[in-house]
Amino acid sequence: MILKQKGTYDIFGDEAKKRQYINEILDAICQKYNYSKIETPVFESSELFHRSVGETTDMVQKETYDFKDRGDRNLTLRPEGTASIVRWFIENKLYGNLSDPVKVYYNMKMYRYERPQSGRNREFSQWGIELFGSDSELADAEIISLSYNAYRLMGLDNICVKLNTLGDTESRENYKKALKDYLKPYINELCEDCQERFEKNPLRILDCKVDCDNDILKNIPKISDFLNETSLTRFNKLKELLDLMDIKYIVDDKLVRGLDYYTHMVYEIVLDDSYALGGGGRYNNLVESLGGPSVPAVGFAMGYDRTMAMLEDKNINIPINNDIDVYLLSVSSDEKETSAYLAQNLRLNGFIVETDLLDRSLKSQFKSVDRFNSKFLIVLNDDDLAKNEVVIKDNKTKEEEKININDIIDYLDMHI
Ligand code: HAM
Repeated sequence: MILKQKGTYDIFGDEAKKRQYINEILDAICQKYNYSKIETPVFESSELFHRSVGETTDMVQKETYDFKDRGDRNLTLRPEGTASIVRWFIENKLYGNLSDPVKVYYNMKMYRYERPQSGRNREFSQWGIELFGSDSELADAEIISLSYNAYRLMGLDNICVKLNTLGDTESRENYKKALKDYLKPYINELCEDCQERFEKNPLRILDCKVDCDNDILKNIPKISDFLNETSLTRFNKLKELLDLMDIKYIVDDKLVRGLDYYTHMVYEIVLDDSYALGGGGRYNNLVESLGGPSVPAVGFAMGYDRTMAMLEDKNINIPINNDIDVYLLSVSSDEKETSAYLAQNLRLNGFIVETDLLDRSLKSQFKSVDRFNSKFLIVLNDDDLAKNEVVIKDNKTKEEEKININDIIDYLDMHI
């Protein structure tokens, strides 16, 4: 037997319906904020992800699905959406007409070679939003508000924004230097990964899962002490906007996020003060570093797996309706033909219809009516059909009537 791959899953039945329901909420809220839907290819050149996410990140070093195609091209399965959207933005020269910001959202499968665990898979779906062409805190606040309100619309109330700023290049470079000066004497006491990060990417030491309880990290210098005037002012303005918009946040000066492209504001949306459901931030240098002009941008992405798990955990009711409207019962070949014709007609008129496709007895078909929880059943028999009539029965009240076959739609319209 061939089984599915580790860290992948099939989405079927109620699970598929729940996701569909969440998708509808996300589509609707994106429409309110005037974001257009985008879908990008599942694979892109490896260089795109390696350069944008950062060669020294865990994602690129350990998690990307890299492969060569038959034409010897180096390709990578999309591990996240931002790099692909930036590639699209540059490839279509959308920076040429930026009288208004370009705002897009996506709902796509991503691939990361991670150790599968709760809320973490190798194939997973992300909903993401990206905004290009505004460097204003107003754009930061719009992205935060869109993501924050999306969770609230799903019914997750106890959420909070964990917020930090990485400042501009000058602030970040001063901070990196201070970090390295502070950490140098302790370098051998850090985990192996952090020893490597020390030279290549010292900021990442801040969110190391291994060293997080290490006393050395507890007393580490804070980025807030290294922000220059400009960086501090914009961070304060953003906080003011969030206060105004009644968005709950806490500043966490150890939040750096695992991708290299962030500048200024970074954030995560956390549930019950700890569990991160999604994250994002500003990435003002990415368009330029991938070959476009300098265009500021900001975005966010949410993982479906964690969000769905939390909706379940909080007993949030997602309406799922598996009931059907009508079951058509038939036995003889003429009855079956009429059933096929009627099913076609009723479905085109918007009703959910099931028929017998297995040539079963009437008794077995009645069992299907109950299994499908059909609101109505229509019994087709040759004698009635000769008079253009059918028996229609309300499966709940058990009331039944004989009606003209041409009146079925009107009848159902009145009763459903
Ligand atoms: P990220 O933090 O790598 O950011 O991923 C965002 C979210 O995707 C995570 O918070 C988590 O919910 C979900 N996620 C990540 N990895 C997995 C996994 N292996 N299994 C299930 N869910 C997962 C980004 O991807 C950035 N592109 C976000 C962004 C958009 N920044 C700016 N714009």
